[in-house]
Amino acid sequence: MSDETGASPPVPPASPAPPATPAPSAPAPSGSAPERAPGGSAGGLTRRALLVGVGAAGGAGAMFAAMGALGLAPDSQDRNYTPPQPSDFALSGRAAASVVVLGAGVAGLTCAYELGKAGYDCTVLEASDRVGGRNLTLRAGDRLDELGGATQTAGFGEGVYFNAGAGRIAPWMVTMDYCRELGVPIETFVNNNASAYVYTRGMTAPVRARAARADLYGHVAELLAKASDAGALNRRLTADDRERLAEFLRRFGDLGPDLSYRGSTRRGFETWPGVGEGVPLGAAPSLRQVLAAGTGRAVTMDFGYDQATPMFQPVGGMDGIVVALADAVGRDRIRTGTPVTGIRNLPDGVEVTHPGGVVRADYCIATLPPHLLARLPHNLGAPVTAALRTPVPVSAGKIGLEYGRRWWETDDRIYGGVTETDLDITHIWYPSHGYHSRGGLVVGYYNTEENADRYAGLPHDGRRARALTQGKKIHGEKYRAELRSSVSIAWRRRPHVEGGWVRWPSYEGAFTLLQQPAGRVHFAGDWLTHLIAWQAGAMESARRTVTELHHRVLRTTS
Ligand code: ALA
Repeated sequence: MSDETGASPPVPPASPAPPATPAPSAPAPSGSAPERAPGGSAGGLTRRALLVGVGAAGGAGAMFAAMGALGLAPDSQDRNYTPPQPSDFALSGRAAASVVVLGAGVAGLTCAYELGKAGYDCTVLEASDRVGGRNLTLRAGDRLDELGGATQTAGFGEGVYFNAGAGRIAPWMVTMDYCRELGVPIETFVNNNASAYVYTRGMTAPVRARAARADLYGHVAELLAKASDAGALNRRLTADDRERLAEFLRRFGDLGPDLSYRGSTRRGFETWPGVGEGVPLGAAPSLRQVLAAGTGRAVTMDFGYDQATPMFQPVGGMDGIVVALADAVGRDRIRTGTPVTGIRNLPDGVEVTHPGGVVRADYCIATLPPHLLARLPHNLGAPVTAALRTPVPVSAGKIGLEYGRRWWETDDRIYGGVTETDLDITHIWYPSHGYHSRGGLVVGYYNTEENADRYAGLPHDGRRARALTQGKKIHGEKYRAELRSSVSIAWRRRPHVEGGWVRWPSYEGAFTLLQQPAGRVHFAGDWLTHLIAWQAGAMESARRTVTELHHRVLRTTS
């Protein structure tokens, strides 16, 4: 790596690290891919040594063919990922290359971290003054700038934090493997809480999610059970099938012996049982009322494979992940406050310019959002520019509302979880940590697209006022009166990001083109995966790109 700027600018300290276990100085390889897997040796050779030999002799095509034969080719989620290792170079006679990584978000840091395992000389250029990208945790004193010049400073109390970007992790995601590998402690993120509310415009009072679920399940079960009982399904189901279906529906909907739904203790209680039997909630609404109330949104929100409970979060803030990654990469390799101004493929390397000078390296991995990469001067060709312009940025916004009293726990008995609304705030998140402590932070809106744009168009005070007006419909006057401080983020207005995530009009063409390097410039990011808007997407993409770049280096003579 050559650098015409001389000394590296110092990296400002990151936000205070959460109480995470320090990252091991020599991180163990990913736990998902043992070097000598059972059945993985071929005549005493490890699978990796075999592949390195095939790659050196036959090039990438032969290598990937061999990987496929060994069951190692990257599939949708690369369970067979093996990080580059110094020993890979022993057989090939090649040496680790220099790589300039553009962007210190999750993708860029993961690339530098994985390449660093094999001794690659990585330099990470980050435009912002902090690492993490959309993994952004704000604490007391943190400043948040927006395009257009607006600035907020978090005035939170001690220990209070706001995950302004990434907020939850599904257990099947590779993000969990990185937490394990880097020693980042995790805790449960409550994504579905029966005690949270569902609110639809016009309701006089919100409904608890448990009641919404009981009523919907109950009425749907009754409809189906009675239709089946009346013979409507006789052509499709045998008598045995129908009996089994009826048995299931009775349980699913808590139906009476006559297959009617007349409410259920599943709805909850006015007065909870104790020494006495309690007072159940009043009569269940009719099916028509339930449908009109639109409460189905609260019943289905965690049905998705990426939202199913349990989900997880790092203890102390989501940025525990990027702090650990940046420490493992080496802070001296990361230059914050260094916006890239140009990218040039050279015959024997790449040249990346920034306001302070030029960085030359053998290869580049560009992880900036595609709409920002498209704007940079480069010589990667018009098709690459067109491809980078193809994905559409999606707006997303959040507001963190700090309260001195955890009224949602004491008054509402809500411990974590999400209230679903059809208001422009869309969701309210309650904290899944710090239960019973003095204060805490509620996410007063998490919205996207036009709802996010509506809030983005307001100054922070306006966003706060609007969020409080909406939230008050659910939680009453305390929602406004007890607010202590707040910070809002409009990701479209976030410098160097300019979007919550992107949407591809199609996964053909441009998407496929950018999976390939443009000369010596490779790309990585959640935007190049089917896990857009997830850190796991950034990490999976980073692993894929690192693997390809490493194989390329192993077979390159110059
Ligand atoms: N990953 C984003 C979320 O969990 C989209 O809401």
